[in-house]
Amino acid sequence: MRVRIFKLTERNNFAILLDITALVRKAHHSRDSGGESITLEFLLGTQMTDIKKSIHGEWSSRFAFILAATGSAVGLGNIWKFPYIAGENGGGAFVLVYLLCVLLIGIPIMMAETMLGRRSRQNPIDTMITLADEAGADKNWHYLGWMGVIAGFLILSYYSVIAGWASAYTVKAFFGSFSGADATEIKSLFDGFVGSPLQLMFWHSLFMLATMLIVARGVNTGLEKAVRFLMPSLFVLLILLVGYAMTTGDYYDQGIAFLFSPDFSKLTGEGVLIAMGHAFFTLSLGMGAIMIYGSYLPKDVSIAKTVYLIAGTDTVVALLAGIAIFPIVFASGLEPAVGPGLIFQTLPIAFGNMTGGWFFGVLFFVMLVFAALSSSISLIEPAVAWLVEKKDMSRKQACIWSGAVTWLLGLATVFSFNAWSNVKVFDRTLFQLLDYLTANLMLPIGGFCIAVFAGWIMTQQHTTHEMDMPDALSYKVWRFVIRYVSPTAVFLVFLNVIGVL
Ligand code: PFF
Repeated sequence: MRVRIFKLTERNNFAILLDITALVRKAHHSRDSGGESITLEFLLGTQMTDIKKSIHGEWSSRFAFILAATGSAVGLGNIWKFPYIAGENGGGAFVLVYLLCVLLIGIPIMMAETMLGRRSRQNPIDTMITLADEAGADKNWHYLGWMGVIAGFLILSYYSVIAGWASAYTVKAFFGSFSGADATEIKSLFDGFVGSPLQLMFWHSLFMLATMLIVARGVNTGLEKAVRFLMPSLFVLLILLVGYAMTTGDYYDQGIAFLFSPDFSKLTGEGVLIAMGHAFFTLSLGMGAIMIYGSYLPKDVSIAKTVYLIAGTDTVVALLAGIAIFPIVFASGLEPAVGPGLIFQTLPIAFGNMTGGWFFGVLFFVMLVFAALSSSISLIEPAVAWLVEKKDMSRKQACIWSGAVTWLLGLATVFSFNAWSNVKVFDRTLFQLLDYLTANLMLPIGGFCIAVFAGWIMTQQHTTHEMDMPDALSYKVWRFVIRYVSPTAVFLVFLNVIGVL
């Protein structure tokens, strides 16, 4: 009699401990050429995920996950980035492509990414190792996890600098710097600010420190508490700003028309790539952030319903930001294509001139900083979880290491707005390069691989069980989209950009 244990790899130690009961359940008899044997099938199988929990803890409820994932999704991407890239890419047609990408690529991949995390309950790197092992697939899938962790560092490095701008603008709003100012004054205030490496460095450091402090406190205490009250407040403020924008003369004529009447002659292949990249960026997809949050998701929560809610909220926030900003842009005679400074050159005009502007200005930038914080913590969490799981570090040590690396990388962005503004790689400043590399290449490639993995590598039995859709049809639709539609769409956009189409 022999005992065989399958798929027992050193890397799976953690999973083995948790799944030992399932191991016993799975023991069954089999015959092979040598006679009777007992085969202990160690499959990280259907039942096992039901009893598995992440060593980092679990969200206290579905609501907590929704808040955290929405916190990750809603951030600078919606309020700072979406308006300025829509402005640079001609508005309406760009917005339409972005919305299509959210629907056909973003939402299905968000479901897949959450599902992968919940099934493995580990950091993204080990998630890929475990699930590839389970599916009998190639080990190389773990590079997907690595790419995600690296993308997280790179994104956070510039994210933190821009969040630093928002922090600085909170203080400027508080001291009345916008009061009564016109577009030219607000612009020179902005130019003076980003022209100073010391100021940018100071605010970048402060923001990184805040991120590290929150992440060090862990999933339940740190992350969950931080996002609980931020999201609703931001939402209310945006509505208020839309209200203000409606009072400007250019609300419908130019503001709304710019965002919602598509002119396809203004859309380039590059613009389509940017719109798709932004769908990944804004939903925090393709790099393991949603995967790691999924790994803390309780078993009985419906992934599909939750994802619709998160993606819907994220999209509404971005559109509201656009609706608030563009009327002010046109009413103040500004160009929609001024770039990353767009909200910092427009909203202060509104705050400086509306009744109660001082109060709303301070509040708005405070909210923006908090929205950025609830995203930045998710950018660093995959790396921190990996360091804790694999390198035996405490959360605190892991935060210090990853925070220090990100801070250092962030200096490239700090200087790209001043001292190194002439340094160009592929015709881009270092900030533009980092943004392009991560949002337009790494995230879509990561998302493409996640779709292929969930659609083609994992068994249908496992995905059915894990997705736990309300009905068979919803599952079929999702599986079709994740196998065919999403990967093909990403692929076509890439082909288009390199000029093959
Ligand atoms: N979704 C965030 C935003 O829109 O600001 C940015 C982001 C967070 C991107 C987490 C990627 C990520 F993994």
